[in-house]
Amino acid sequence: MKLVFKSISFLFLMIFSSGKMMSQSSTIVLKDNWRFSKDVKDDASAINFDASKWDKVSVPHDWAIYGPFDKKWDIQTGIIEQNGEKEATEKTGRTGALPHIGTGWYRNSFTVPAFKKGKKALLIFEGAMSEPQVFLNGKEVGKWGYGYSYFYIDITNDLLVGKENLLAVKLTNMPYSSRWYPGAGLYRKVSVIVKEEESFAQWGTFITTPETKGDNAIVDIKAEFNGSNVSMVTQIKDASNKVIATQKSTEGKDGRFHQTIEVAKPRLWSPETPYLYTAVTKLYAANGTLKDEQSIKFGIRYIKYEPNKGFSLNGKVTKFKGVCLHHDLGPLGAAVNKAALKRQLTILKDMGCNAIRSSHNMPSFEQLELADEMGFMFLAESFDEWAKPKVENGYNRFFTEYAEEDIMNLVRATRNHPCIVMWSSGNEVPDQWGAEGVKRARWLQDIFHREDPTRPVTVGMDQVKATMESGFGALLDIPGLNYRVHLYEEAYKTFPQGFILGSETASTVSSRGIYKFPVVQEKNKQYDDFQSSSYDLEACSWSNVPDEDFVLQDDKPWVIGEFVWTGFDYLGEPTPYDEKWPSRSSYFGISDLAGLPKDRYYLYRSRWNTKDKTLHILPHWNWKGREGEITPVFVYTNYDSAELFVNGKSMGVQKKNNATPQNRYRLMWNDVKYEPGTVKVVAFDSNGKPAATSEIKTAGEAYKIVLEADRKIIKADGEDISYVTVSVVDKNGIPCPTAVDELNFKVTGAATYRAACNGDATSLEIFHQDHMKLFSGKLVVLVKAIETPGSIQLEVTGKGLQTGKISLKSER
Ligand code: GAL
Repeated sequence: MKLVFKSISFLFLMIFSSGKMMSQSSTIVLKDNWRFSKDVKDDASAINFDASKWDKVSVPHDWAIYGPFDKKWDIQTGIIEQNGEKEATEKTGRTGALPHIGTGWYRNSFTVPAFKKGKKALLIFEGAMSEPQVFLNGKEVGKWGYGYSYFYIDITNDLLVGKENLLAVKLTNMPYSSRWYPGAGLYRKVSVIVKEEESFAQWGTFITTPETKGDNAIVDIKAEFNGSNVSMVTQIKDASNKVIATQKSTEGKDGRFHQTIEVAKPRLWSPETPYLYTAVTKLYAANGTLKDEQSIKFGIRYIKYEPNKGFSLNGKVTKFKGVCLHHDLGPLGAAVNKAALKRQLTILKDMGCNAIRSSHNMPSFEQLELADEMGFMFLAESFDEWAKPKVENGYNRFFTEYAEEDIMNLVRATRNHPCIVMWSSGNEVPDQWGAEGVKRARWLQDIFHREDPTRPVTVGMDQVKATMESGFGALLDIPGLNYRVHLYEEAYKTFPQGFILGSETASTVSSRGIYKFPVVQEKNKQYDDFQSSSYDLEACSWSNVPDEDFVLQDDKPWVIGEFVWTGFDYLGEPTPYDEKWPSRSSYFGISDLAGLPKDRYYLYRSRWNTKDKTLHILPHWNWKGREGEITPVFVYTNYDSAELFVNGKSMGVQKKNNATPQNRYRLMWNDVKYEPGTVKVVAFDSNGKPAATSEIKTAGEAYKIVLEADRKIIKADGEDISYVTVSVVDKNGIPCPTAVDELNFKVTGAATYRAACNGDATSLEIFHQDHMKLFSGKLVVLVKAIETPGSIQLEVTGKGLQTGKISLKSER
């Protein structure tokens, strides 16, 4: 199907599968009682024999996150062409310096009661890192290539009826297969679905709203089914669970029901109003027996991409205030966890972020559900490589055989989420060069269109000149530019679409709470401690500081938004210290690997969060030894002007102005000389009246440990996590911003100690050990609920420090 997205107005409705158990189908989630081993000698013994000596694990599981960190894991020697390198060097922490390489085996068993002839059983993997080979009762029943794909295997004919079924999964991670930490193992859910002969096809239901009728939305439901002589009844419920529309169909053609249902005065889905409806579709046999049921949440929203005007959501021009996210969850590795994802989105929401790009692969179902519920638009990406490699053993090995199916599964499994507003078929693929690449770009885009005619497709392009010449950029629905701010104007004029997306922006580097002097704007700057300055003026040769993107976003109506690299630090890719051991995680994050905001968080917040005020001072004010030396003070705020005081003395009034991009978006006092005491800022409203103040003080000796939980009540489900931020303060309660004390953690009651993280990209401390050093005065402890509800205590101790204690609770 050929689509033109230039001035299309496509309006539609999305649904998502709620993951609820179907009444006539049943789902067995294989979570507990897995056995895992990395020391299997031969396949035959792993598939057939006793695995009781293997480690007992639950899934989602990441075998590599437990470390130890070591530069020997996946040392990659070579040239990173994207970074403009000319000579091969040894990249030590490129994939996180964690032991993800090698073969790992998982074993489990399950029984399907009352499985009769005619029934159907599917084994579903939501992500298996990587190259999964699946064995059931000793026989290979399926395999896949890409570790980020969702896929299912029909095991109907291999199932032992009424008996225990033995499942074995082999996973293989090759060296040089990733550019970041990919994780290892069954890092997303595994389940078995049993269906009747007459049933809805897996991922076979698609709902859109192709038009409105007066005040009403037209809900278009296409549902594929198995079997014959069936009828389908759909009920639409509002958010309070009230049935607002019903339709029955008896005529299914070509294995598909097609219904159009009117929803009166629909409440539209948007990041500000993430309103969700539910569609319950039921499949009946001719004799009236219920055969299958899907309970599906959905949201109604209209999207449009138009030349010059850009992107609009529900008729309102909207810019993407987005971040790119890798899939790892810091100290949890790649093992998906809903509490960790929800915390990330909560932090991003406060920053005013409205969109996520799942770079550079398929997002988890959990993340999409949360984005629907919490209100984030989503750019769902698929690949970092096509046929031409970036790393020797990357996706290029699978492209020809799997690309079409990988896209089909991505689209079919997720197309009903209202949050998804765009697909991406690739990121900075080397196929941007050459005629074959142009063909591949078209081929992939056509697959997306065939599977989902309602959303446009982008590619994040870094070879902008080449794609302008070859026609690669012109054929895309949405031209996405990665960095290259100097080429936006030219690309806009050259490409026919009439708008440009900043598919990847900034890549500014900084370390939380670390400041370097003198304060200068630099590229590829390195320091002896392998940290980057938090004055937010350092970037890479190809990248830039945030303010340069802001200028384009603000001044060019045809720029439809940006996705900042990245919302959070991630494991691997420790640029600008790619060759410097022990750097092992990124410096690009707006927040660090522990999820703690860096200063940059407040720079983005000051422009993206238009509801709340931001007035943030940097650096910290503990500079023993720098007395009398120039120590610039920056303030990130949505106020236009402010006056700064050091120990009561005015340092003058600063007002945002257009002299440089920094002057436009930051208030800067560049001549302040350090003296210990108090730095205070008074911000003025548009009438020049004092409107808000903020201050920071020099701290004395570390005295006491202070704990603060993101959530004091968690769910007793064995998965929920409370994130407790740990810091130290002096006798007067002033935070000590340079403290590096080693602390010990003890959890008692209805939870376990899960992990800790301090956000230091050079730390080799293992996350799951019960002790860690503070970094810039802070770290985060993860307390994980068990399945029994009750009270929980966390105690944090450190030498010479008053102990920190906090009580939490878990409930059913
Ligand atoms: C981009 C790339 C990202 C990441 C980033 C670092 O070119 O798409 O995956 O490598 O650079 O700046």
